[in-house]
Amino acid sequence: MNSEAVIETRSLSKVYRDFWGRKKVRALNSLNLEVKQGEIFGLLGPNGSGKTTTIKLLLGLLFPTEGTVEILGQPATDVSKNQRIGYLPEESYLYRFLNADETLDFYGRLFNMSKADRRKRTDELLDMVKLQHARKRQLREYSKGMTRRIGLAQALINNPDLVLLDEPTSGLDPLGTRDMKDMILNLRDQGKTVLMCSHVLSDVQDVCDRVAILDGGELKVLGRVDELLKNQGITQIRASTLSEDAIAEVKAVIAKHNNDTIDVDHPVTTLEDLFLKTVRDSADRPGQRYVPPGEDKAAPAESLPASEEAAES
Ligand SMILES: Nc1ncnc2c1ncn2[C@@H]1O[C@H](COP(=O)(O)OP(=O)(O)O)[C@@H](O)[C@H]1O
Ligand SMILES: [Mg+2]
Repeated sequence: MNSEAVIETRSLSKVYRDFWGRKKVRALNSLNLEVKQGEIFGLLGPNGSGKTTTIKLLLGLLFPTEGTVEILGQPATDVSKNQRIGYLPEESYLYRFLNADETLDFYGRLFNMSKADRRKRTDELLDMVKLQHARKRQLREYSKGMTRRIGLAQALINNPDLVLLDEPTSGLDPLGTRDMKDMILNLRDQGKTVLMCSHVLSDVQDVCDRVAILDGGELKVLGRVDELLKNQGITQIRASTLSEDAIAEVKAVIAKHNNDTIDVDHPVTTLEDLFLKTVRDSADRPGQRYVPPGEDKAAPAESLPASEEAAES
């Protein structure tokens, strides 16, 4: 195995069998993948494309039909490697009647951490996932977003070198999604290797260094995100607002060098950008509301305090 590689699969295949042992679904077909130390690797693909199956094979929760997995220099079947791996499953499996403190303490015990270490680590993690205010509430009262965040904290309890995240942003609103992405980027800054899978393109585009696209259990595309997204045929020039005359001059210069049509317009913000900006601005200036054009002289409407739940996406 390449010394830089943290995960390496060779011709990895999985065929699920039915109750009588007959072959039913070929979920993964001859996957060759290498994830390098310190990168955020995205496994993309539509529902049913084999992402969860791949993660479970990496963890040794499933046995491959063919092929091999080497992870942190050991075969996937070696359970001792799990000491250095964190895993956020697609569906939460945490005990609903424990609160956040008890949950993290419980998993800390499984890793034989001392009481002092467990307390320190729990504090750090609850800070990181912004659940300090809800640490004494039972998980059954948590919203989907809070559940995802405590799941991430749990996955990090053992300070793992490699983190496997199965649909980390599923069910989160745009603000919760951005928080989750920032936490994932932060893991890379701490020197950890992250493999995440998702069917949400924008999540992967924003955080991953490299991606693999799976479809029907087969690897379709693999590469650096910036290179995959670069539109080779177009050169984009950006400037702050130009006068009509200046635009005409620029067009004339470009026309001198090639005779294709060119577009001049303003950069587009995505809906996600707009939503995030709106929510953040409203936190900075509570009470400020949408003002229809032409009515900007009207008296500001009375504002109501935002509910606590609104912050708990
Ligand atoms: N336990 C199972 N038994 C039979 N088929 C399964 C099982 N788990 C997954 N599959 C099938 O394997 C394929 C890949 O599933 P999965 O890895 O969960 O995809 P993804 O995570 O990309 O949505 C799907 O066709 C799915 O129906
Ligand atoms: Mg899945």
